[in-house]
Amino acid sequence: MTSSAASSPDRTWRVAIIGAGFVVQRAHIPGFQALPHVTIVALADVNQARAQEVAQEAGIPHVYTDYQEMLRRERPDIVVVATPNVFHKPMTLAALEAGAHVLCEKPLALSYADAQEMMALARERGRVLTVGTHFRWSTPMQAAKAQADAGFFGEIYAARSIWNRRTGIPGYGSWFTNQELAGAGALLDIGVHSLDRALYLMGYPQPVRVSGVTKAMFGPRAKGLGGWGIDKQAPDAQARFDVDDFAWAFIRFQNGAVLQLEVAWASHYPEEFLTQIYGTDGGGLVEGSERLTLYTELNGQPMTIQPELPRGGPGSYARMIRDFVRYLDGEPGATIVQPQEALTVALLLEGILRSAERGQEVDLGEITGQ
Ligand SMILES: NC(=O)c1ccc[n+]([C@@H]2O[C@H](COP(=O)([O-])OP(=O)(O)OC[C@H]3O[C@@H](n4cnc5c(N)ncnc54)[C@H](O)[C@@H]3O)[C@@H](O)[C@H]2O)c1
Repeated sequence: MTSSAASSPDRTWRVAIIGAGFVVQRAHIPGFQALPHVTIVALADVNQARAQEVAQEAGIPHVYTDYQEMLRRERPDIVVVATPNVFHKPMTLAALEAGAHVLCEKPLALSYADAQEMMALARERGRVLTVGTHFRWSTPMQAAKAQADAGFFGEIYAARSIWNRRTGIPGYGSWFTNQELAGAGALLDIGVHSLDRALYLMGYPQPVRVSGVTKAMFGPRAKGLGGWGIDKQAPDAQARFDVDDFAWAFIRFQNGAVLQLEVAWASHYPEEFLTQIYGTDGGGLVEGSERLTLYTELNGQPMTIQPELPRGGPGSYARMIRDFVRYLDGEPGATIVQPQEALTVALLLEGILRSAERGQEVDLGEITGQ
């Protein structure tokens, strides 16, 4: 899809944000406010005190507790949806109906059908809908992608994407660990990022079958908790935890390639955040958002290359937001997570969860109907 916004870069984009939590404070507010022709006009949160405090600090003029009222009154050009996962769909649909472009937080939706419905409405309304899987904008990911596009890896036939935390269960006792609000745990929280990192470098091939396993090994025992977002109201050992904290999957693609996904919120194993690419002419390892190592051979000799990457500059989230706005401006070269890419991730998430439930491989055609 190309940018349908057809706007002049001289205009000012009016942004409204739904959700005043962690990610909005850390990423969306600074990201949009760093751009010259963008203004955040309003913030909505059911937690009025939090919304007021955040808005005041950031100089956002209007606060709402009802996002529908915010959409009606403010008529924003861009809406950010950054609330517990279960609300992503209704809020995105409402924002699109109100005529806005939408940056929805990950996961886009809790099912493939929901994701399709959201993308279909965006298409129908001529609006851009994208999702906040920002790690692909990190410096080493961009460098690896440039190498992939230039043919360094040859044919990419396999990849592994791992995000293993030792003690990193977020928001224990909050919406994060409540299945009705989050949909699932580590898979929808960090699995989406790990999937996007690998698929982006692989060129988003079409997945056909998936075998997934999910487990809850630490959360139910109130172990492996991250230090953030813990619901202080909930006494530790009694807090609700009915999501996964571990998800592994093996994915087969139409082109014969395979992808191994390994994510965990908690484990008795050191922290790992990496994406590995296996190609006929070269391999690659992206470590977190810091480092890229390339592997190949030269005149029959194995070679390891450590590219010099530029240091400093905006982080991956800020770059994603900048690209999103540039994309709406119609600037050539600006990229977003494309609808088909977001749909592929939604399909895989549903496939992994179905497979995990059944204990057997799932043909993704049963979800897409193709
Ligand atoms: N892309 C990333 O790297 C990244 C990082 C963190 C979080 N996220 C995603 O962002 C979303 C929010 O995560 P967070 O960590 O900021 O959570 P959070 O709990 O800190 O904030 C969520 C906010 O939503 C508000 N809210 C709940 N229901 C609402 C409603 N009906 N109307 C308006 N506001 C409502 C809550 O009051 C809270 O302030 C989640 O979907 C999460 O997966 C993405």
